[in-house]
Amino acid sequence: MRDTYHVNFSARSRGKKRLDEDDVQYEKFFESHEDWDISDDTDGRPDGDRWSTWDTSPPTERGPLPYPEWLVTDLGAVDTEMGILKTGKEGDVFLVRRWVPDTDRSVVMAAKRYRSSDHKMFTRDTGYTEGRRVKESRTMRAIQNKTSFGKEVLAGQWAIAEFNALKTCYQWGLPVPYPVQITGTEILMEFIGEPDGTGAPRLANARLEGDDLTDVWEQLVEALVTLAQKGYAHGDLSPYNTLVKDGQLYIIDLPQIVDVVANPRGGEFLERDAKNVGTWFTQKGLRNASVAPEDLGALLRREAGR
Ligand SMILES: Nc1ncnc2c1ncn2[C@@H]1O[C@H](COP(=O)(O)OP(=O)(O)OP(=O)(O)O)[C@@H](O)[C@H]1O
Ligand SMILES: [Mg+2]
Repeated sequence: MRDTYHVNFSARSRGKKRLDEDDVQYEKFFESHEDWDISDDTDGRPDGDRWSTWDTSPPTERGPLPYPEWLVTDLGAVDTEMGILKTGKEGDVFLVRRWVPDTDRSVVMAAKRYRSSDHKMFTRDTGYTEGRRVKESRTMRAIQNKTSFGKEVLAGQWAIAEFNALKTCYQWGLPVPYPVQITGTEILMEFIGEPDGTGAPRLANARLEGDDLTDVWEQLVEALVTLAQKGYAHGDLSPYNTLVKDGQLYIIDLPQIVDVVANPRGGEFLERDAKNVGTWFTQKGLRNASVAPEDLGALLRREAGR
């Protein structure tokens, strides 16, 4: 029988008492939080397995329709944790296999889990949110005072920000992993890699040259132009936040996506993104490009009307 395991997340009840009326959205976030702790589970699933949370996720916490055909949406699906793919600044990326027992339906996904203890996020938070008004509330004070509740809220906010950015970019036709689901501080997304769990290399490690290098550059320019036309910059673009699989470019790590129209420093973010990737492509000997790396920043500013 499902739903027999207990979610023992004491910070949730502690946190709730501190919530203001204007914190409903955080309350909702905590309501949907589920631990991976299945120690109280009695239905015999091995350690590391949990019932797929797909059918209990509200539509707003799932990826955009139509669902890709590779996605496993069965009621009886099980998620198995397969191990860690990468540890990062803000969180860790795990591999999760969602499969349906007694069938051959199975898919490997990437699960990015934001850590609530990462101090870098706090300093990083300020520049990016400039131009937005931050409401003074108990939650805001908890974040500023770096209480564990505040950190958890912030980690959840970054997860929500990245999930929404992935959703929006995917719907604009940009080359990003399909965002499958958000649960608390975890984002499940399309895994860019091989079915055996080998991740696609980052652009920096993809060993591209000649026409292959030019082709990936053209894909990147096209994606960035579209993003600029929609009024956004990636905000942390680099050869490390881009993956290449079978010659296809994917842009990842989008929580800090910048609204370059609202943000007074929008133009700077466009220039910086362009420079971070442009310099790298120039060093690799990029040739025959339709847009020269040194012209990309200006092009993006024009496209964004900045
Ligand atoms: N959807 C994905 N498919 C395959 N690999 C992924 C995926 N998402 C992330 N990765 C891998 O995990 C790494 C870290 O992911 P990401 O950049 O989103 O997190 P981060 O916390 O910013 O990490 P970092 O500090 O390395 O930038 C990526 O460089 C990539 O190698
Ligand atoms: Mg990254």
